[in-house]
Amino acid sequence: MNKHILVVPGDGIGAEVTTVGKQVLEAIARKFNHEFTYDEALIGHVAIEATGDALPAETLEKMRTADAVLFGAVGHPKYDNDPSAKVRPEQGLLQMRKELGLYANLRPIKLFDELLSSSSIKPEILRGADILFFRELTGDVYFGEKTRSEDRSTASDLMIYHKYEVERIVRKAFEAARTRRNKLMSVDKANVLESSRLWREVVQALTPEYPDVEVEHQFIDAAAMLLIKDPKRFDVVVTGNLFGDILTDEASQIAGSMGMLASASVGDSTGVYEPIHGSAHDITGKGVANPLASVLSVALLLDISFGMKAESEAVIAAVDAVLKDGYRTRDIADADTAADKLLGTFAMGEQVLSHLA
Ligand code: NAD
Ligand code: IPM
Ligand code: MN
Repeated sequence: MNKHILVVPGDGIGAEVTTVGKQVLEAIARKFNHEFTYDEALIGHVAIEATGDALPAETLEKMRTADAVLFGAVGHPKYDNDPSAKVRPEQGLLQMRKELGLYANLRPIKLFDELLSSSSIKPEILRGADILFFRELTGDVYFGEKTRSEDRSTASDLMIYHKYEVERIVRKAFEAARTRRNKLMSVDKANVLESSRLWREVVQALTPEYPDVEVEHQFIDAAAMLLIKDPKRFDVVVTGNLFGDILTDEASQIAGSMGMLASASVGDSTGVYEPIHGSAHDITGKGVANPLASVLSVALLLDISFGMKAESEAVIAAVDAVLKDGYRTRDIADADTAADKLLGTFAMGEQVLSHLA
């Protein structure tokens, strides 16, 4: 198959991990006789430095015409510590999601058995956990109107959802539940928020259309607690943009590390595949970032955008094999990790590639 992939490394460790992600795509093309072509584009801090814009028009155009986008991360400490900055790297990411209509963000929480001991959660609580989050990605308080009073002493962000926005993501989650364990948890704050009451109404209205799916409603505070107490009770989770952002960082600890969690953002246009982690300033340039979230994002890209099931499974099997061989990056290492098994970003990538050769 011929496919054109746009690689958008972005900032910080985004550049390091997408280098490995692209190598994995190249290895898959060789192994399965596909013709993949590549282009690169700027976003985030590096784009602001080069063009003044966090999402240059050229990048957006390249995204629209690609068959899929492999994305790194955006962010720079300069902006994190300067709330008054007008142009920010994160605007590039949010604008990309909006412009491409990427309303559904799939975040699978896949726990590799070999990493049971890497998590801070007890193995007997964790074993068998397997969750798929559907985070709504183009609505909510992220995109509602923002205000600041003239004297700058008062600020607001509007939390807003339209029925159609809730309906389309909830339908996707119901459909996914049907291919898994037929359980759907909807997470909201309907005891307080009007937008959450709309959310819950929509889920309730759709429920009779999916009689084979068992639906559970949880408030965000309780869901956050249950995720650690009993991760196995979760199958598919559907929630809004902000709650989904927070819950999935928490859920990364079920998989062992932020460095293990991939995501797929899909909707009306080109799919974008990226780790859930950010640019990780604290480890940028040190060569220690875990590239497996980017590698697993490639697995999602192959499956969802290209329909390449066997290729996707080959990538996941390669990650599994590397972990079985005992190789670890720093974030997933434990007391039993031998010094010669502790690898940096690119050496870890090499191990994955050796299983795809
Ligand atoms: P972060 O996800 O970058 O890092 C959180 C912690 O996890 C850090 O200690 C980091 O070292 C660790 N970590 C993350 N990815 C790792 C990996 N692959 N391997 C090993 N360790 C890893 O979140 P943060 O520190 O809150 O944010 C840093 C910057 O990234 C901010 O500017 C933020 O806005 C941005 N950000 C961007 C995205 C994105 O582009 N999708 C996501 C989250 C945060
Ligand atoms: C993510 C990030 C982004 C979000 C930020 C950087 C805007 O945390 O992709 O999870 O909140 O969506
Ligand atoms: Mn996040």
